Amino acid sequence: MAFDIEMIEKVYANMAARVDKARELVGRPLTLSEKILYSHLWEGTPSQSFTRGKDYVDFAPDRVACQDATAQMALLQFMHAGKSKVAVPTTVHCDHLIQAKVGAKTDLAVANTQSKEVFDFLSSVSNKYGIGFWKPGSGIIHQIVLENYAFPGGMMIGTDSHTVNAGGLGMLAIGVGGADAVDVMSGMSWELKFPKLIGVKLTGKLNGWTAPKDVILKVADILTVKGGTGAIVEYFGEGATSMSCTGKGTICNMGAEIGATTSTFGYDDSMRRYLAATGRQDVVNAADKVASYLTADAEVYANPADYFDQLIEINLSELEPHINGPFTPDRGTPVSKMKEEATANGWPLKVEWGLIGSCTNSSYEDMARAASIVEQAVAHGITPKAEFGINPGSEQIRYTIERDGIIATFEKMGTKVFTNACGPCIGQWDRTGADKGEKNTIVHSFNRNFSKRADGNPNTHAFVTSPEMVAALAISGDLSFNPITDTLLNDKGEAVKLNPPTGDELPTRGFDVEDAGFQAPAADGSSVEVVVSPTSDRLQLLAPFDAWDGKNISGAKLLIKAFGKCTTDHISMAGPWLRFRGHLDNISNNMLIGAINAFNQEANKVKNQLNGAYDAVPAVQRAYKAAGVPSIVVGDHNYGEGSSREHAAMEPRFLGVKAVLVKSFARIHETNLKKQGMLALTFANEADYDKIQEDDTINFLDLTEFAPGKPLRLEFVHADGSKDTILANHTYNESQIGWFVAGSALNLIAAGKA
Ligand code: F3S
Repeated sequence: MAFDIEMIEKVYANMAARVDKARELVGRPLTLSEKILYSHLWEGTPSQSFTRGKDYVDFAPDRVACQDATAQMALLQFMHAGKSKVAVPTTVHCDHLIQAKVGAKTDLAVANTQSKEVFDFLSSVSNKYGIGFWKPGSGIIHQIVLENYAFPGGMMIGTDSHTVNAGGLGMLAIGVGGADAVDVMSGMSWELKFPKLIGVKLTGKLNGWTAPKDVILKVADILTVKGGTGAIVEYFGEGATSMSCTGKGTICNMGAEIGATTSTFGYDDSMRRYLAATGRQDVVNAADKVASYLTADAEVYANPADYFDQLIEINLSELEPHINGPFTPDRGTPVSKMKEEATANGWPLKVEWGLIGSCTNSSYEDMARAASIVEQAVAHGITPKAEFGINPGSEQIRYTIERDGIIATFEKMGTKVFTNACGPCIGQWDRTGADKGEKNTIVHSFNRNFSKRADGNPNTHAFVTSPEMVAALAISGDLSFNPITDTLLNDKGEAVKLNPPTGDELPTRGFDVEDAGFQAPAADGSSVEVVVSPTSDRLQLLAPFDAWDGKNISGAKLLIKAFGKCTTDHISMAGPWLRFRGHLDNISNNMLIGAINAFNQEANKVKNQLNGAYDAVPAVQRAYKAAGVPSIVVGDHNYGEGSSREHAAMEPRFLGVKAVLVKSFARIHETNLKKQGMLALTFANEADYDKIQEDDTINFLDLTEFAPGKPLRLEFVHADGSKDTILANHTYNESQIGWFVAGSALNLIAAGKA
């Protein structure tokens, strides 16, 4: 589990020269984000400056992390890259596939049985290819990364949107799809549009009931769920340096909820303390030597409005605790206004459950402060009104808080301690009675509170707040309870006022753990066998996609003309399909089942041109595949928006769709299609979308001349024999055309040509 100090020292050794050169090229002082971006260019020392929000740039991340649900397809692909070892330090974390029900011991045993073959697969692939493997029960990916791997000034990618959590330790950590992770693990560059920059200046100091969580709840309220799109959020100011490193992690974690590329903080004493407490004094020593490169230049802090695309200022001394929700994390309500808001909106005031932990709020400080509230309630003889649960972020945290009596304090309130895993945060919560669909309220310290996210009940009103506020609200059982002004009645009928929370930032006796749950990879994995049962319904080894035959595609059938919004959820649904994420054939049975057919306005009902009958999209496509008939998909604007899951591109590729022709693409999906060897095309004239008819047969006229910047000509032959020839644009460059020719980007890597 040892962090890679040599790699970190190498990053720091290059930093000064690269950042100094970047400052010269850009011609002004640099923000921290720019320093990290320019010191991680694939080309090494920068040779040009980039325009924010415009230029696509190749980067060289230092690390990769994958969680179990996304790692399956990523590793199945990596196995085809023809590499004996990952090119950069990589870890896999088993945290998403464990359900919370009874409590840690029983729940973990159930998961280890139910998902045994998936865990065994991830363990053996990790062992073989030099990947650190964190077993089920070891904890949640982002908490473990913060405790073990994150370092100031580093850049990492992870196959989970909350990878951004590592910004708490001054990294640029970014969530990506599995195909991007495979590229970096295979030793290739990683492309990102040079982000815009949002500065958040924190003045004053947190006090009383206010916690770091309230900073991001306030920022989410200001920026909304889309406000951070395409931008890095950089926090600075006296308020930033005065808060804990793990508090910074919480703030960065929820940057995902405003759509930000990532968030980060400059290197400071709180990071030194956290690194030292987690056994990484070596990193402190190395970072201190380049400390001036691990924060923005002084001029940026003096005149931030000149350097950020947008600037927000928050005075922590005046910040009130916030409760955000329900159903969206950007609906912020200060605690003093909750009674009014909840009453006006008809939100149930009775709190049924309080949940703390997750990757967002699992620090020692979080647990200690929440426990201080519970301790007061117990001491005053207050019987808690709601149920209470914890899913600790790591075994190290769980072990340490158990040793220090914090779990015992929670247990005085009947708290359920679930496995160190995602659990209720990702709907892996078998909550008694949730199936009845009753309207109810829960409060938690997680990050997302979309409908059905926690327990599958669309009528559960989930509110996000700090762990200490969760404790107070769960004890009171009342969403409108304001601990700053209100009192609670104890068992003798006396009014009791809770004091503000207290708790150590870090354990005074240090962190401890007996078995952290880490499995180091074999030094030489060449003899390690990766076993995948051919009869498994959850895992399937991938076969390389066929290379292009060099001919024009002709006689292709229209599979579907999708109408309106077609997100990655419409193309490859989540929910019950999550269990097939490692089995391409099985998960392909969800291909485009959510897309609306433009000809009948129905989902999952398209015409099979071979027999004229209407059937499910995957069934029709399988019929075309069996008959050796190519097909194409037509779509509307922003096709493939949403998640970066590569299944949405791999499924059509696997089932024999040749091209996707749309009005416009979401960028990541377009890249995913290209990487899987598909043709991702856009109408040169959007109105041509209307010319596409249900019984069309499509012929490519000049695919044999496929070249950068040259539109392709497609002939649509209609049922009555009439024809329309349309122009299709594309954004393929030379090397991406190489992916198409080879059958996929991975085929090129495997052939040693990428
Ligand atoms: Fe897991 Fe929820 Fe975090 S799903 S990774 S605990 S956001």
